[in-house]
Amino acid sequence: MRFILLLFLTFTSIFAETSYEKGKNLYISHACYACHGHKLEGIHRYSYLANRAKGYMSYKLKHFRERKADTQQQEMMINFALGLSDEDIDDLTTYFRDYIDEDNGERYDDSYETYGDGGS
Ligand code: HEC
Repeated sequence: MRFILLLFLTFTSIFAETSYEKGKNLYISHACYACHGHKLEGIHRYSYLANRAKGYMSYKLKHFRERKADTQQQEMMINFALGLSDEDIDDLTTYFRDYIDEDNGERYDDSYETYGDGGS
């Protein structure tokens, strides 16, 4: 019995999503990208969120969740923050803080090699 439990725990920890992945999925399922961008870069006057301080971002989201906004523009965020749990906020803000632009992998690919002498 203990063995089965151990096996179960091993499997659940292997397949458990990281906080970063959960945050990413929440960001997509809650359509946050519609205003903050697919790369967390911000659109128009909507803030960028990539690599921003976790503490400050959670403070802001909890503030909005309590229906508090400092400017009229920020009031727009209240509805999007209302449904978030503390854990959701924790995952989202981990995603923001640790965000890596996956598309950049290729741009900085240094395995590229040139052949020949350029024809000179
Ligand atoms: C309809 C557009 C819209 C959507 C969708 C939206 N936001 Fe926002 N968000 C805003 C606006 C507007 C502000 C306030 C910008 C300002 O301070 O002027 C804001 C501010 C924020 C801030 C604070 C940033 C700062 O610089 O203080 C965070 C964090 C945030 N949004 C997260 C989210 C998350 C997470 C979601 C999805 C659950 C989301 N937003 C969905 C419009 C949106």
